[in-house]
Formats: sequence, C-alpha cells, structure tokens
Amino acid sequence: MSEILIVYHSQSGNTKRMADAVAKGVESIEDCIAIVKEAFDTSLKDIISCNGLAIGSPEYFGYMAGAIKDLFDRTYESARGRKEIFRKPYVVFISAGNDGRGALSSIKRICTGYQFKMVYDPVIARGGVNEEILTRCEMLGKVIAAGCEARIY
Ligand SMILES: Cc1cc2nc3c(=O)[nH]c(=O)nc-3n(C[C@H](O)[C@H](O)[C@H](O)COP(=O)(O)O)c2cc1C
Repeated sequence: MSEILIVYHSQSGNTKRMADAVAKGVESIEDCIAIVKEAFDTSLKDIISCNGLAIGSPEYFGYMAGAIKDLFDRTYESARGRKEIFRKPYVVFISAGNDGRGALSSIKRICTGYQFKMVYDPVIARGGVNEEILTRCEMLGKVIAAGCEARIY
C-alpha cells in the first residue's frame, strides 16, 4: 500500500484542478491512495508518513506561492536529517500566467535541501489549465504512485 501526499495551494482553482488530476492518476494504480491537502493544512507528520509527494503551486511574483513556502518554513528545521524523508520521491506541478520557471526552480532548490528526489518531469500550465495539462498531471500521479508501489525509487 502506497500513500501519495498531494499538497497544493490555489486561489482561483487552476492548481486545484491539477491536484485533482494528479490524485486521479494515483488512485488509478492498485493499492495506492491519494491524500490531497491544502499546504496550510499540511504538517511535517504528513510529509513523513507518505511514500511520495506531489507539490503543486501557482507562480506568484516569480516564486512559489507563500502557502507552499510557509509549509517549508514550518517543517524544514525539524525535517533536517530525518531518515524518513531522505530521498523521498517527489514531483511538481505549477500553474502560471505565462511563466512558471521561478516557482519551479524555487521549489526544486528547497527540495534539494530536504534531500527529496525528483522522479518525473514537472508539469507547468501556462495561461490556464486544459485537457492536455490535466492528462499530463494524471500521468504524474500514475508514475509516482506506480514507482512507489514497486519500490523502485
Ligand atoms: C499575486 C499574483 C502574482 C502572480 N505572479 C505571476 C508570475 O510571477 N508569473 C506568472 O506566470 N503568473 C503569475 N500570476 C498568475 C498565476 O500564477 C496564475 O493565474 C495561476 O494559474 C493561479 O493559480 P490558481 O488558479 O491555482 O490560484 C500571478 C497571480 C497572482 C494572483
């Protein structure tokens, strides 16, 4: 049984739609459970107890959303050096108006500090979320769930 935590922030719904598509992908894999949580409601316990992590953020001012940064700010010191998070598989999905690179690179940089391991290419939606993006998010969920379940990461 593998649990994938999908932690996200969304104001106008784009990142939430992506999170739901990732969850659909996770749940399509046998014995895998998606736990979808708003970043402000997420704790270090959630990060420790999941088998894999999908992080979703809008890009705000060329950076990740403050809510995602808040999660990192609240958990980093206590997480540091804990064996349960070492090389924890993770994936990222970003919703942006026209860019998204700043949000992605800031998340990747901090995840390097946690020693998480990125296991699939990030998905960046620009200018809204369409069917192609949702399909790619679903694939993101399938890949991380199937890999965790097969213990390949
Ligand atoms: C305060 C604010 C700052 C933003 N800054 C950027 C930005 O720097 N680059 C960008 O491409 N889009 C930017 N956007 C657009 C959002 O990233 C985009 O609308 C995103 O899809 C919103 O996600 P949501 O629907 O999940 O809230 C900004 C939006 C807001 C509200």
